[in-house]
Amino acid sequence: MEAEGVIVVRELDLKKDLLEVEDLERRCEVGNSGKISLFTDLHGDPISRVRHSPAFLMLVAETAKEKEIVGLIRGCIKTVTCGKKLSRNGKINTNELIKPVPVYTKLAYILGLRVSPSHRRMGIGLKLVRQMEKWFGENGAEYSYMATENDNLASVKLFTDKCGYSKFRTPSILVNPVFAHRLRLSDKVTVIRLSPSDAESLYRKRFSTTEFFPRDIDSVLNNRLSLGTFLALPRGSYSADTWPGSDRFLSDPPESWAVVSVWNCKEVFTLEVRGASLAARALAKTTRIVDRALPFLKLPSVPELFRPFGGHFLYGLGGEGRSAGKMVTVLCAHAHNLAKELGCGVVATEVSNREPLKSGIPHWKWLSCDEDLWCIKRLGEDYSDGSVGDWTKSPPGLSIFVDPREV
Ligand SMILES: CC(C)(COP(=O)(O)OP(=O)(O)OC[C@H]1O[C@@H](n2cnc3c(N)ncnc32)[C@H](O)[C@@H]1OP(=O)(O)O)[C@@H](O)C(=O)NCCC(=O)NCCS
Repeated sequence: MEAEGVIVVRELDLKKDLLEVEDLERRCEVGNSGKISLFTDLHGDPISRVRHSPAFLMLVAETAKEKEIVGLIRGCIKTVTCGKKLSRNGKINTNELIKPVPVYTKLAYILGLRVSPSHRRMGIGLKLVRQMEKWFGENGAEYSYMATENDNLASVKLFTDKCGYSKFRTPSILVNPVFAHRLRLSDKVTVIRLSPSDAESLYRKRFSTTEFFPRDIDSVLNNRLSLGTFLALPRGSYSADTWPGSDRFLSDPPESWAVVSVWNCKEVFTLEVRGASLAARALAKTTRIVDRALPFLKLPSVPELFRPFGGHFLYGLGGEGRSAGKMVTVLCAHAHNLAKELGCGVVATEVSNREPLKSGIPHWKWLSCDEDLWCIKRLGEDYSDGSVGDWTKSPPGLSIFVDPREV
């Protein structure tokens, strides 16, 4: 059977399709029986992973005759930084410093593409991607990208061989467990919480030229899933009481500082590791019981990964100065404690694999992914500022901004 003519692609009808879509998701994850697999529960909301973006769409592929849903795809569009150019702040011929300003582009993102195991290699995946790209084009997106595991041959080949995408960036997903004990924060560092508007101005001033920085950062920071932005500073520089606001802070910052924001993914989805042996589960449970009973031992206990668990995602991670890496470690400990209070199993983040602050982020290697593969395609040529040229050909910067709305 070929997809052409036999398969109809249409927009999701949330009320009508929910159960069938959930069933399809389940069948796609159970695919590799016998092995350990990660099950995702979207809490009955199939569009939860795109609904916070400025524009989004979910399509389903249905057999024309039986009206059975055999494939699905999600997509969203937003405006992000794709490069930078130099500006004199509008004041030509003054002594004012020439500073880089962001160049923005309209970027589309494809995620959650699934085709029923019984209907694979019939061109349904390809059909779904083409239809989604049509919507991207109609909505003015200049680029489209997707993320997948490096070893997902079907997905990599579909996008690179058939859809014209090229391999673009390979950021690292770093995942740390939430222990049953709290982590102690260094007493040489003060952590203060910024208001969303202070966080916005700090991000716009310092990070807006970072690749993938979302122009609507204010709506990210003000989203109910954003649990706060935290700044780490050397003790004695500023405190919550003496905080002068981001503008004055940045005009006279301490030698080192770091910032991070926390996103509550637990509200969006929960995960569950299935297929682990009884012995592995028992061992994990024992470490947890001991850690809970004797927290002063600071045992690196394994979280409850074998029942549904949620996580927090750290985004907007950055900093400056010689001790910025240490400040990041303190912020991660702070985020760990927040995640523990809110009953999460893991804290995750995603950073460029060249990120200078990466070594300050604690993580467990076996829970993490060293190379998440991002592939990109240019959909149109006559949109953004010519000074950047074709983004898909540009070398990677040191950092990227990973939008928590699409985790
Ligand atoms: C990836 C996936 C969506 C592909 O769907 P599909 O409908 O089988 O793909 P198509 O039939 O449209 O295949 C189009 C092309 O992709 C490539 N491709 C697809 N599956 C492949 C496989 N298993 N091995 C190698 N290449 C493959 C081929 O180039 C294929 O063209 P061809 O059949 O003419 O050789 C499907 O395998 C799937 O649901 N996988 C599990 C979920 C997943 O990994 N999603 C991707 C996350 S981004």
